[in-house]
Amino acid sequence: MTKFKLGLIVGSNRRESINRKLAQALAKLGGDAFEAKFIPIDDLPMYNQDLEQPVPEKVARFKSEVESSDAILFVTPEHSRSIPAVLKNAIDWGTRPWGKNSWTGKTAAVTGTSQGAVATAVAQQHLRAILGDIGVLVMGGEAYITFKPELVDANNNVTDDSVRKFLKAFIDQLAALAGKLAPIAAQRAA
Ligand SMILES: Cc1cc2nc3c(=O)[nH]c(=O)nc-3n(C[C@H](O)[C@H](O)[C@H](O)COP(=O)(O)O)c2cc1C
Repeated sequence: MTKFKLGLIVGSNRRESINRKLAQALAKLGGDAFEAKFIPIDDLPMYNQDLEQPVPEKVARFKSEVESSDAILFVTPEHSRSIPAVLKNAIDWGTRPWGKNSWTGKTAAVTGTSQGAVATAVAQQHLRAILGDIGVLVMGGEAYITFKPELVDANNNVTDDSVRKFLKAFIDQLAALAGKLAPIAAQRAA
């Protein structure tokens, strides 16, 4: 089977991010179908339209990594019941300059974790709305993961059987969807 290129975007710039931990576990679970690559966003400058011509080197690197991914997986925390500023900043850079939207036609899935019971649900809804508006084809369904300290072990394995099964099905579904939408994605990006 052809391995898809999965770009992983973590919506946190925290060193010990629990969302990065979850993303590492998902990358491992999807290893048969995807070749996973983390796309950093914490080094991007704050978006400023004055910096667009040409975009800064780090932004160019970010845009090219998004463009070369067959699918994108967003794993994000929730900040003040929305997406963190660092993630919105990266999304905005991806759309610019005008006419060079790196997101067009990309297939994506959204998940996230927090210690709270509703675990990122509001942030994920906001993210879905934004992604839809900028031309991303977002996988349906819900994946709100409540984080416990022992959920992901030191080898990036999910220790809870039911959560692991759920996440495996989630990442497999993204692989299947990315395969089905590949021709549409290519057509939309052209
Ligand atoms: C500014 C700020 C706002 C937050 N707002 C929320 C929130 O609205 N909902 C929530 O579930 N957690 C909220 N949290 C707690 C985060 O879920 C928690 O810090 C989590 O560890 C962040 O994920 P990370 O470790 O991947 O950065 C907030 C944290 C910060 C720093």
